[in-house]
Amino acid sequence: MQVKYLEDLSTLVSLAKRRGFVFQSSEIYGGLNSCWDYGPLGAPFKFKVKMLWWKAMTRRNDIVGLDAAILMHPMVWKASGHVDGFSDPLVDCKKCKNRFRQDTAVVNGKVTCPKCESTEVTEPRNFNLMFETYMGPVKDEAAVVYLRPETAQGIFVNFENVATSMRKKIPFGIAQIGKSFRNEITPGNFTFRTREFEQMEMQYFVKPGTDADWFETWRQTRWDFYKACGIRENKLRWHKHEKLAHYARAAFDVEYEFPFGWSELEGIHNRSDFDLSQHQKFSGKKLEYFDEANKEKYIPYVIETAVGCDRLALAILCDVYREEKVGGADGEGDGDTRIVMGFPPELAPIEIAVLPLSKKPPLQELGMKIRDELAKDHDVDYDETASIGKRYRRQDEIGTPLCVTVDFESLEDRKVTVRHRDKMTQDRVYIDQLKSYIQDKLKNF
Ligand code: GAP
Repeated sequence: MQVKYLEDLSTLVSLAKRRGFVFQSSEIYGGLNSCWDYGPLGAPFKFKVKMLWWKAMTRRNDIVGLDAAILMHPMVWKASGHVDGFSDPLVDCKKCKNRFRQDTAVVNGKVTCPKCESTEVTEPRNFNLMFETYMGPVKDEAAVVYLRPETAQGIFVNFENVATSMRKKIPFGIAQIGKSFRNEITPGNFTFRTREFEQMEMQYFVKPGTDADWFETWRQTRWDFYKACGIRENKLRWHKHEKLAHYARAAFDVEYEFPFGWSELEGIHNRSDFDLSQHQKFSGKKLEYFDEANKEKYIPYVIETAVGCDRLALAILCDVYREEKVGGADGEGDGDTRIVMGFPPELAPIEIAVLPLSKKPPLQELGMKIRDELAKDHDVDYDETASIGKRYRRQDEIGTPLCVTVDFESLEDRKVTVRHRDKMTQDRVYIDQLKSYIQDKLKNF
C-alpha cells in the first residue's frame, strides 16, 4: 500500500478545522493572533495526551501531583530571575518600522530586517516576555502581578509543603500540568509557539552528587515516553545545549521533526540547587532537606523535565497523519485515497463509531442501544448519515480505531460487523460479546 505522511503544516491546519480538532480563537472577529481553541475532537484528544503524561508521572511511587495557582506572589518572579532576565532583545527597523528580535535576525554578521532587509536598525531594548496584570481594584505598581511564564515555580515554592504533607524522602518528584503565558515576539507555526499554552513539568529533587546519574535516567525515561505516545522514533532526536544558563549543569532537548523542521519538544535540565536556594534567600524560609538516615542537611538539586502539552499534541497530530491509496486486495475503495489519523487507541478522541446501515427504526433502536452500552466505558460516536463507505472514511480521518456496523441481519443473528481502522479487516461479532471483543482489540491494536 502506498503511504504518504504529512509534508505541509497547512494540510493539518485545515483538517484540524474541518474535523473539529482546533479552531482559531475568536474567529468570527477575525481571530486573535497565535491563540487557538480546541474543538469537540481536539479537547478530548488533548485531555488524553495530558492523562498519558500524568499517569506516566504520578503512578510512580516517587512522584506526586500538584495544581498550583497561575497568579503567584510577585517576589516569586524576582527570585526566579524572570523579572530581570526573562526578556528578548528587540530592535526597530528605521526604514519600514518593523519590530523584531535582534538575536535571530543576524545575516552575514549584521542585524538585518527580516521584512525589508535593511540593516539600519535602532539600538536593542530588552522586552520582558511576562504578561502583567493588576490584582484588585487599584491599578498601581503595588498591585502588579504576572501570569506565570512557567509552571515550575509553583512546584519550587511548594517543595516544603509537599515533602512534609506527603512525608516524601529524597529522591522524589512533583508533577504539574497547567497554563503558562509568554508574550512571545514571534509566535507561530500553528500551536507550536503561542502566547497562552499548557505545560507539563516535573521537578525531581535529588541529593547533590547523584544529579548526573538521575539526569541520565530521566533522559531515558522521557525518550521511552515518546515511543509510548506512538511517535516514530526516527522523527525524534536529542539536542545537547552547549551554552548553559548560569545555574544549569546540563541541558538536553528532545526534538521532533515537524513539517517546518527539527524543533524542541521537551527540555530536560539539571538545574542544580539554584531555584530552591533563590527562594530560600528571597523568602527567608529554610528550604533545606534533612536526611535522617545520614543526619545531614542539604538543598536538593533538581532534574527538570518540561514539555508543552500543545506542542506534544501538535507533534502527535503531525506524526499520525497519513494518506493511503486503498483498493483491490483490501476490499475497500477502488484506488481512492483515504486520510488516516493513526492515533494509538488511548489517544484517539473517539474510540468506537456505531454505524447503523439504515435509519429505519429497528436498526436505529439497536444502534443506539449498542452505543449507550459501549459509552459506559468508551468515547463513542454515532453516525447514521451517508453511505457506509463515506462514513468509514470520515472515521478514518478522525482516527477512530473501530467501527461497529449494525445491519438488518443483526436483528436476526444478534451479530454486528466490527471494522479495524488500520487493517480494514472486518469481523462478525455477537452483540453480547462485543464489549470484551472491543476491549481486547483496543488493547492489542
Ligand atoms: N521550566 C522550564 C521551562 O519552562 P522552556 O524550555 O521555556 O522551559 C518548556 O519550556 C516547554 O514548554 C518547551 O519545551 C515547549 O514544549 C513548551 N513551550 C515553551 N514556550 C512555549 C510557547 N510559547 N508555546 C507553546 N509551547 C511552549
